[in-house]
Amino acid sequence: MDSTRHIRNLTLIGFMGTGKSSVGRMAADALHFTYLDTDDVIEARAGISISELFEKHGEQVFRDWEKRLVEELTRRTKTVISTGGGLPANEANFVSLQSHSLIICLWASPEKIYQRVKGQTHRPLLNQADPVAKIRELLAAREPFYRRADVLVNTDFRSAREVATQVLHQFHMAQAVAR
Ligand code: S3P
Repeated sequence: MDSTRHIRNLTLIGFMGTGKSSVGRMAADALHFTYLDTDDVIEARAGISISELFEKHGEQVFRDWEKRLVEELTRRTKTVISTGGGLPANEANFVSLQSHSLIICLWASPEKIYQRVKGQTHRPLLNQADPVAKIRELLAAREPFYRRADVLVNTDFRSAREVATQVLHQFHMAQAVAR
């Protein structure tokens, strides 16, 4: 890891259904950091849900909201940031997050992801005839970005609490190295 980086925040990336929000909240509590979920911020600012945003304005408008938010995040300190699944799959977004945070990617297999998200309707990208095929396609396209995280944690056989423990351990180690 590049020890000249200034790790002021912890960013969780990963596909939908990998537990970023649950794990992020637990990690923020333990670290006494602020918790920020990029989807929640965008929904609050846009005044509509992510599904409505996709429906009314299209995915590109949502990605523009993400981009603007990522720029603002460079000013944050002591924050656990949980990103939407597609947010880091963009070079500028990824590099920006890396400049101020340790990036931890929560990983899961397509089958596990499907088990976790099936029955949910608030994820517009998965409202498809064949959601598993869509998960595989998106995962393959995003994998190069997800793999660039500082740490990858497989969540397939771990509870959110166990994943949070791993995440906290990695964050403490990174801070010790950077000191
Ligand atoms: C998306 C993931 C969602 C949300 C939007 C698009 C994606 O967030 O940002 O529906 O592109 O993978 P979660 O990963 O928190 O579900």
